[in-house]
Amino acid sequence: MLGIIGGSGFYSAGYTENLRHIEVVTEYSDVAVPIELVETEKPFAFLARHGKEHHIPPHEINYRANIDALRLAGVTEIVAINAVGGIAEGTGPGSIIIPDQLIDYTWGRHSTYCGQSKRFVQHVDFSFPFDQALSDKLVSAVNTINDQSEAARPVMAGGVYGVTQGPRLETAAEIRKMRRDGCDIVGMTAMPEAVLARELGINYGLLALSVNWAAGILPTVVTMEEIEAVLVDGQQFLRRVIARIIDA
Ligand code: HPA
Repeated sequence: MLGIIGGSGFYSAGYTENLRHIEVVTEYSDVAVPIELVETEKPFAFLARHGKEHHIPPHEINYRANIDALRLAGVTEIVAINAVGGIAEGTGPGSIIIPDQLIDYTWGRHSTYCGQSKRFVQHVDFSFPFDQALSDKLVSAVNTINDQSEAARPVMAGGVYGVTQGPRLETAAEIRKMRRDGCDIVGMTAMPEAVLARELGINYGLLALSVNWAAGILPTVVTMEEIEAVLVDGQQFLRRVIARIIDA
C-alpha cells in the first residue's frame, strides 16, 4: 500500500468518505501515531508529519515512530511531500522539484532503527536515497498536471536536497556553503525520514514545492507571509499530483 506523508500546508488526505482514522502504537513513542486510511479501490495511508495543527517542529518529529507506524499499517512505499527553499536556478517559489540526492546536515535526531537496545548493526546502502521508479512516476504525474494547467510550473527532475536542522531558516553564508556543496534545494524534514524508510525496506520518493528563495539568494529577508502565500497557492497542484499517483 502507498503511504503519503504530508508536510507544511498538507494536513489531511482530503477525503470524507471511505475514511478510517487509526492510531498506531509503536515502540518508539508513548503517543500513538494518527494515520488516515483511505479505503477506496486504490487504498492508501496518510500521515501529517507536523501533526494536524502543525504543532511539531522538524527537529521534534518522531520520525522513527512515524515510519514504523506506516509500516505497521501496511505501507510498502512512501511519497513524501515537502516545502523547501530554492537555491539553484529554476527552483524559485512555486516550482516543483523531485530530487534524486540529499545531503544531511541535521544533528541529534534518532536516525536509525539499529543500535544497542535492538542488538543489531545494519549498514544500509544509501547511494541513491530516493526510489527511481517512484520518482519517475512523480515526474510524469507533475508533467501531466502541468499539461492540463493554464500556467505550468517549472519542474526540476533530479537535484540535491540539503536537509538542515531548523526550525530556524539558514544564514546567507550557510546557503552559500550549501550551494558550493552542490545543494539545489533546502528543507528540514527529508532526513532521517528517507533513511528510516530504507532501513525498513520501504521505497521512498519525494515531491517538493519551493516556497521561497533560500536565505541570501535575494537581497531581501525571507518572510513567513510570502512562504504561506506560495504554500496555499501550491496545495491544489500537489493534491492533483498525489491523486494521479494514487490512481496509477
Ligand atoms: N530553508 C529550510 N527549510 C525550508 C525553507 C528554507 O528556506 N523553506 C521551506 N522549508
